[in-house]
Amino acid sequence: MEKIIINGGTPLHGEVEISGAKNAALAIIPAAILSQDVCVIENLPCSISDIVYMMKILKQIGAQLKVINKNTIEIDSRHVNSYVISHDMTKHLRASYYFIGALLGRFSRAMVSMPGGCYLGPRPIDQHIKGFELLGATVSVDDNAIVNAKADKLIGSPIYLDMVSVGATVNILLAAVKAKGLTVIENAAKEPHIVDLANFLNSMGADVRGAGTDVIKIRGVEQLHGCTYSIIPDQIEAGTFMVAAAATKGDVLIKNVIPKHLESISKKLIECGAEVEEFDDAVRVSLSQRPEKCNIKTMPHPGFPTDMQPQFAVLLALADGTSIISESVWSNRFKYTEQLNRMGANIKADGQLAVVQGVENLKGAPVKADDLRAGAAMLIAGAAANGTTEIEDIYHIDRGYEEVVEKFKGIGADIKRVYCPDPNALTDVG
Ligand code: EPZ
Repeated sequence: MEKIIINGGTPLHGEVEISGAKNAALAIIPAAILSQDVCVIENLPCSISDIVYMMKILKQIGAQLKVINKNTIEIDSRHVNSYVISHDMTKHLRASYYFIGALLGRFSRAMVSMPGGCYLGPRPIDQHIKGFELLGATVSVDDNAIVNAKADKLIGSPIYLDMVSVGATVNILLAAVKAKGLTVIENAAKEPHIVDLANFLNSMGADVRGAGTDVIKIRGVEQLHGCTYSIIPDQIEAGTFMVAAAATKGDVLIKNVIPKHLESISKKLIECGAEVEEFDDAVRVSLSQRPEKCNIKTMPHPGFPTDMQPQFAVLLALADGTSIISESVWSNRFKYTEQLNRMGANIKADGQLAVVQGVENLKGAPVKADDLRAGAAMLIAGAAANGTTEIEDIYHIDRGYEEVVEKFKGIGADIKRVYCPDPNALTDVG
């Protein structure tokens, strides 16, 4: 069992380099099997565990992988020979369900066990299934929670999503690129990683237009070919360091970002009194006084991202005054507030609303990472708090943040990762 220990209370200063976007990579990796060819993916956050598991799935279905360097992998999909993915493989992460769309696109057949991932409330896949069915597939979920999808031939279709869903938009895109004729996804998600996936598919010879708007048109093509593609920078990792700079009253230059993707976060930081300076591919965030209160409401892109909600709550926990957080995407994304309250925060969460009464200081405490972004919030809180914070269950953080301890250390945090024996492992001894 590993923990992260932070001695906080020191402003973060310096420069940090952002990795490739996890959520773009998670869509692009399965997309690579749509070509019976070789794709080279650059700027891939290879060391995060979600990516490692996606690579394991690729290998299980017959793809050959070659590590070109730390962040570049060659995926050879010529010998992919299976449309079955077992629970052992899918239980680790949500995005394993992108193989349903990708395998349908490749073989018109997919048998994929229902996915794992962060618990943020119920995570139904009805919109994914609706999309596959409109493309002509029959889809059933058996008693062992295996999704079985098959089609004689996928045929393009208009598909209206009942709610904006990143996952359904990705999955339908993957299934539709080689379907016969035109697919139109209406009420599509507009996140930067949807655009990145569409750009990757187009680099392989697909005909996808309108990604980044709420109407995406996909004209099916017979075949896709290999390509070399570089993944966009991670919007949420960048936002996490932006908030860390402000919450510690520091001054950090966050490099390798697309400032346009960070606008909703920058605007809220400015509302809290931070200075945000934008460059071509970097942002600098600084704050010298106590943050001011502000309200946030999470929304699909271009709204304030739900994946930044826990991290931003740390800044609001330290703000002068009372802020309201309204979580409109997930029904259960405030569990982390219990951990922040252990550090002296004063947050009352009820359903999808949280009232944050700002306090002057947080104090270090033993806490845990309830999920990935909750873990990121603990890192920021630990860096901002006086005293020592020990974070448990950091495997959640390792799912989505590359070299996170090294990156925090690089901007002056007193932080380390330690191994400690699992107390439960001792219960059987004598
Ligand atoms: C993606 O999850 C992200 N994951 C999540 O990031 C992110 O929180 C979420 O989008 C929202 O931005 C990946 O990209 C791998 P949704 P996803 O489908 O695709 C409901 C992180 O921390 N819904 O857009 O699962 C759903 O219950 C992770 O990096 C249905 O009802 O999210 C939710 O309330 C956590 N039926 C809302 O839509 C469906 O068929 C949005 O979900 C699909 C979704």
